[in-house]
Amino acid sequence: MRLPLPRWIAHRGGGSLAPENTLAGIRLAARLGFAAVEFDVMLSADGTPLLMHDETLERTTNGQGHVSATSDAVLFRLDAGGGERVPGYAEAVALCRQYDLLANVEIKPAAGFERETAEAVARQSVKLWQDARVPPLISSFSLEALEIARDLAPQIPRGVLFEQVPDDWLAVLLRLQAVTLHCAAEGLTDAVLAEARANEIPVLCYTVNSETSAGALFRRGVSAVFTDRLDLFAPETSAYKGLHLGG
Ligand code: G3P
Ligand code: MG
Repeated sequence: MRLPLPRWIAHRGGGSLAPENTLAGIRLAARLGFAAVEFDVMLSADGTPLLMHDETLERTTNGQGHVSATSDAVLFRLDAGGGERVPGYAEAVALCRQYDLLANVEIKPAAGFERETAEAVARQSVKLWQDARVPPLISSFSLEALEIARDLAPQIPRGVLFEQVPDDWLAVLLRLQAVTLHCAAEGLTDAVLAEARANEIPVLCYTVNSETSAGALFRRGVSAVFTDRLDLFAPETSAYKGLHLGG
């Protein structure tokens, strides 16, 4: 499957220019000319999918405790930075659809909630992205979550996330019927890139925040990078303008 994969993906919504995993971040990425955003999706205690990276609230909000133990009533009243609220997954999808953004929806289950999180994200995704011009790309470090996404939302493309790419990565992708390989930029070997190229599998690297490392990765055959540096890589202003299309 051919995805409209741009070179640059705004990480956690607006990268370091906006509070992470917020609608303000997604909006900013779109305004700066990014064609793709990545965000993390976790469940509240009520089972509602929402944008959140950490299992606990302290780092990114003015709340306390575990996200999975906090009700919607509390969660959606928190300040996620700069007066921004924690967005529900449905709100983020609506915004991405409005801006025609490619959304990389990372299923980020709190430990022990892999099944519930994947089921909720997969089921909601089928409804929320129905007839979308640009379909999302679902990814996760949790292979269990991706299996569930494959079974419940087979029509939505999947990518597998690895911190360190294992030797059997291709078998894992084939089993999950995944179309992209996502991994940390550090430790990515040329052997993996060669195998990916031979199998026409795009490789996406996180988190790339310097022009030197982005350039080196693209030269080695990486298709796209997740970046926090929206200022550096904004398509409107970047010296890398010529590299924004393609993949
Ligand atoms: O999906 C790429 C990247 O977001 C994975 O790392 O911890 O920022 O979710 P993390
Ligand atoms: Mg992420």
